[in-house]
Amino acid sequence: MNSIKKPVVIFGNMASASTSKYYLDNDSDHAVIGFTVDKENIISPKHEGLDVIPFENILNEYPPEEVSILFPVGYSTHDPRGTNVFRRNRYECIKSMGYEFINYISSKAIVASNVVIGDNVLIYEGAIIQPFVQIGSNVIIRSGSNIGHHCNIGNHTFIASEVTIGGKTNLDSEIFIGLNSTVSNSVNIASGSFIAANSFINQDTQVGSDYRGVPARRYE
Ligand SMILES: CC(C)(COP(=O)(O)OP(=O)(O)OC[C@H]1O[C@@H](n2cnc3c(N)ncnc32)[C@H](O)[C@@H]1OP(=O)(O)O)[C@@H](O)C(=O)NCCC(=O)NCCS
Repeated sequence: MNSIKKPVVIFGNMASASTSKYYLDNDSDHAVIGFTVDKENIISPKHEGLDVIPFENILNEYPPEEVSILFPVGYSTHDPRGTNVFRRNRYECIKSMGYEFINYISSKAIVASNVVIGDNVLIYEGAIIQPFVQIGSNVIIRSGSNIGHHCNIGNHTFIASEVTIGGKTNLDSEIFIGLNSTVSNSVNIASGSFIAANSFINQDTQVGSDYRGVPARRYE
């Protein structure tokens, strides 16, 4: 079996791309060789000293046999389709082109040995992931968050820093949980739920709904 890791191309040319390169350079054995972004969003031919190539040309310039991808782009509160829809669509597009994604799990995160993790997952420093947690693909868990035992974290979900989730809670897919929020144990967070910063969720949520406050109320 070939154990040599393919070099990595990072999607993006903004802050999340810069920080991802920093973390991979300083806290992983992955080698970053370039960046890619949609042609219309290229602002410079170089980012962090490496080439930025149009995503439209990636199959020619960095074919799937030669590179892996990290897609660290965060949520958008301006997308009327939903906070994580661009993240979902682009992840699925890259995957359908035949690319493999890497994960970045900080060496300073505490992740129980039996946690199951998909691909394109980023878990930052100080996060705690307790035993029997399942994490899907294209999930970002920012620094200091605490995911309780037996939680399920669905695909394309973004969990900001210092979020606490009690044990046995289920998050479906494409969920956003804002900075410093708390989600109680054993609740069901439905797909596309948006939870504002500093909120407290103590009951199930409705698909595609927006919750704010302590305790959180549905915001229309
Ligand atoms: C929810 C959010 C997007 C709203 O931003 P906004 O549109 O600028 O909101 P406004 O300040 O105009 O407030 C709009 C309403 O939402 C309420 N609101 C906004 N944020 C709230 C919060 N965190 N908790 C409770 N209510 C909130 C306001 O009180 C206001 O209520 P009203 O309509 O009754 O007057 C923002 O507060 C938020 O939580 N962003 C997420 C930040 C974050 O976690 N980023 C992750 C970084 S990694």
